[in-house]
Amino acid sequence: MKYTIALLAGDGIGPEVVNQAVKALQAVGDTFGHEFEFEEAVVGAIAIDQTGDPLPEATLDVCKRSNAVLFGAIGDPKYDNNPDAKVRPEQGLLKLRKELGLFTNIRPVKAYETLLDKSPLKKDIIEGTDMVIYRELTGGIYFGEKKLSEDGTVASDLCEYSEAEIERIAHLAFKAARTRKKKVTLVDKANVLESSRLWRRVVTTIAKSYEDVALDFLFVDNAAMQMILNPSQFDVILTENMFGDIISDEGSVIGGSIGLLASASVGNDVAMFEPIHGSFPQGAGKDIANPIASVLSAAMLLAHLGLHEEAATVNKAVERAIEKQIVTSDLNKNSEYGTNSVGDYIANTIANIDEETTR
Ligand code: IPM
Ligand code: MN
Repeated sequence: MKYTIALLAGDGIGPEVVNQAVKALQAVGDTFGHEFEFEEAVVGAIAIDQTGDPLPEATLDVCKRSNAVLFGAIGDPKYDNNPDAKVRPEQGLLKLRKELGLFTNIRPVKAYETLLDKSPLKKDIIEGTDMVIYRELTGGIYFGEKKLSEDGTVASDLCEYSEAEIERIAHLAFKAARTRKKKVTLVDKANVLESSRLWRRVVTTIAKSYEDVALDFLFVDNAAMQMILNPSQFDVILTENMFGDIISDEGSVIGGSIGLLASASVGNDVAMFEPIHGSFPQGAGKDIANPIASVLSAAMLLAHLGLHEEAATVNKAVERAIEKQIVTSDLNKNSEYGTNSVGDYIANTIANIDEETTR
């Protein structure tokens, strides 16, 4: 079967890590007899440099006519330190999420047995952690009305949610829990925020149609603490946009490196797959970025297309790389492996997976 994949590599280390995901997909194509056609398009700072727009219309068109989007990373320090910048790379990503209707961001957080000592947290705390964060992605404070008073001394960002926006992601979270450990934890700030109280009401009602799934609630401040005190208590975490942004970065500490965390953004139609890490500009072009998050994002892409055996093969190849310490220096200080050699090892392992599994 033939699939078209939009490649939005973006800025910094984005292109390097996306290249490794492409190698993995090509190896899957060769091994399982699929054809992946890649179409590249610009987004983020590089798009601003080339066109003045962080999400040019042409890029959006490429995404809309593809079966899926593989995204790298965006961001450039020249914008971070300039609060007056009118156009920012991040606007490209936010607009893309909105335009493609990607209302749910799925971020799995897992402790790999062979990496337990890489985490700054104690081994017995993180052991057995296997959770997935369902982060609302097109609403809340990210997209509410922004105001700045004329004299520039007062600013506000509105956090707004509708019932419908909460319902659609809640259903996805409960369905996911059904295939996992059957527990949903809603993370909110219902002791303070009206929008959080709406989340509680809506999610409590929806839970009634999923009687086999347990629902509990945590305030976000407590959740931030529980994430590092006892992360293995979680199965599916359901939360609004900004809380999800924050606790998913926190979750990345559990696995030992943010370079391991993949994500899927799904919605009405075309889905997008991206590592949760940023563009790491200091690491760009040095062959040191960890490509695993990008490769695992490609595995999520395969699963989304219904190619489950193929996705499992990619995951297995990544696990093999980790077991054999064929990892970048974020996971092994003295590593002799770089972005490319880790990517090559994974692609090779995919191509030879039958021999690998019988070994
Ligand atoms: C993420 C990123 C983005 C976000 C930024 C780059 C806009 O941090 O995907 O988590 O805040 O959503
Ligand atoms: Mn983030």
